[in-house]
Amino acid sequence: MSTVRRVRVELGERGYDVLVGRGLLGRAGELLAEVLDGPEAVLVTDSHLLATDLPGRVGRSLEAAGLRYRTVVVPAGEASKSLERLAALLEAILEGGADRRLAVLALGGGMIGDLAGLAAALLLRGVPFVQLPTSLLAQVDSSVGGKTGVNSRFGKNLVGAFWQPRRVLIDVEALSTLPRRELLAGYAELVKHAFIKDRALFDWLDRHVEPLLGGDPDLRIEAIARSVAIKAAVVGADERETGGERALLNFGHTFAHAYETLTGYGAELLHGEAVALGMAQAFALSTRLGRCPAADAEAARAHLARVGLPVRPSAVRRGGFPVEETLALMRRDKKATGGKLTFVLATGIGRAELARDVDEAEVRALLAGDG
Ligand code: GLY
Repeated sequence: MSTVRRVRVELGERGYDVLVGRGLLGRAGELLAEVLDGPEAVLVTDSHLLATDLPGRVGRSLEAAGLRYRTVVVPAGEASKSLERLAALLEAILEGGADRRLAVLALGGGMIGDLAGLAAALLLRGVPFVQLPTSLLAQVDSSVGGKTGVNSRFGKNLVGAFWQPRRVLIDVEALSTLPRRELLAGYAELVKHAFIKDRALFDWLDRHVEPLLGGDPDLRIEAIARSVAIKAAVVGADERETGGERALLNFGHTFAHAYETLTGYGAELLHGEAVALGMAQAFALSTRLGRCPAADAEAARAHLARVGLPVRPSAVRRGGFPVEETLALMRRDKKATGGKLTFVLATGIGRAELARDVDEAEVRALLAGDG
């Protein structure tokens, strides 16, 4: 059996392990039994995953470990991250009978984890929760750290709760059917952790990224475990994003959110692609402001471009995006204050800081140059 990497999220009595390895979903029962309170579980998954053998693999292992489970299926797609779907999910779980020892297991990508996690936080004022992420994005980002939520018609993730899982099982075999484009979008969040905290991880990724994306399971385990360890440390230091540390995970996101709004959060630009573009621009802005060596910004941009992620607006939409509209969206960003824009800036690869005083003229000049 190949290695299983264990990353601890240190949160006192709410602390938990993230396990990264091959074939972990087929061992879910034995790997979860010790962290659950009772023998009953609800497996929440989506309609796309139901067509794969993953729910069956998890289900058989739960039964083999003496756990009883039932499955609730949610329509695939971001539209299911809604208040209506949350209500339907809660009712479906309650219909089958629930007590406070019931565990909610989220098998899927970010949507399933966010939705099922919020359901777990609300059910009977909180029941045990487990993340079984199947997309690279969910594995390196949304499954770790306890953010759960659904969207409102007034914005994304506006209704949510911090509800930490009891355990996260990251099975690299779940990635084998993930479309290349989604894999790359997830990779953007993986390398983001290196950009903000770990130069050595970036250098390692730069050497190994092709076989890693090509499917080498050991490289994937190593990359995911090291990336998750960074996220785990950040969450352990600032669980509720009140101390400034967790905000660093928003590197690239001020740009990204503007582009996602302009493209309608659809197939034209996936979240991870928007983040890649936003990170390339955040590096360029950091250099422009004299905070980051140009060589680092260029190395980061070249790495993202090499794997096929967008690093210029014109790569997403011919002619780019209207500069003033982009700026207006950034101004509306909840972090903007008094005419100054807030960004996470890099002071080099592996070092980031929050800047609340970025001059809009500098951002305008960057955007005008397709930066
Ligand atoms: N994805 C950002 C965070 O978990 O804080």
